[in-house]
Amino acid sequence: MRNFALGVILTFAGLFAAALIVAQFGYIPTRADATPPRFEEHLAMNALDASMERHAPRATNPLPATDDNLIDGIKIYSQSCSLCHGTMDYKPSILQHSLYPPPPQLLLDPMDDPEWHIYYAIRTGVRYTGMPAWNHALSDTDIWKVTAFLSRVAKLSPGVQLYWKKTYGVAPESRQSEEHHGAHEHED
Ligand code: HEC
Repeated sequence: MRNFALGVILTFAGLFAAALIVAQFGYIPTRADATPPRFEEHLAMNALDASMERHAPRATNPLPATDDNLIDGIKIYSQSCSLCHGTMDYKPSILQHSLYPPPPQLLLDPMDDPEWHIYYAIRTGVRYTGMPAWNHALSDTDIWKVTAFLSRVAKLSPGVQLYWKKTYGVAPESRQSEEHHGAHEHED
């Protein structure tokens, strides 16, 4: 039994030393413009979901999903988020292939996570990725507004759709019918 325990400890020490050597000799790639392999993406997304499941409070949005609040959400998104997550004219982000992991395209491939998940992700960011924690940059009210918008991208009221079309020149509803595709996968 003691030998077994010693074996386990030595194995872990060996693995740790190997990992240190791999890092110190420059074998870990640093390029951000590579595509993560499927298994890595899958593992990371599962780990992210599990961590949110454990850490994120099950908060409910204190704001009603009125047209005004959703339009404010669109404005905040367009100003602070579209650079990475895709612009309101349904173009993929110009940084889509420039971050590792790549930013999910939240308009082309809307999220179906609950609002507490989206709110927590925006407020606290995602460590080791390009996703900033917005709690120092946006008010709580603004985070809830953009959360409300992101959780309803595919089911906005006619009034909000009209605002979107008038402001950005593209009608959201015409995209949704033609645009359920797998090109911009966002795994959950
Ligand atoms: C500098 C680029 C960048 C900006 C700006 C940015 N994000 Fe992100 N965001 C990312 C990346 C990269 C990820 C993917 C993280 C991952 O793979 O775990 C992400 C992930 C997310 C997620 C998904 C988390 C999940 O559970 O799948 C949400 C929601 C999100 N961002 C919302 C926003 C909002 C809202 C804004 C603006 C207030 C914003 N982001 C601004 C890069 C950015």
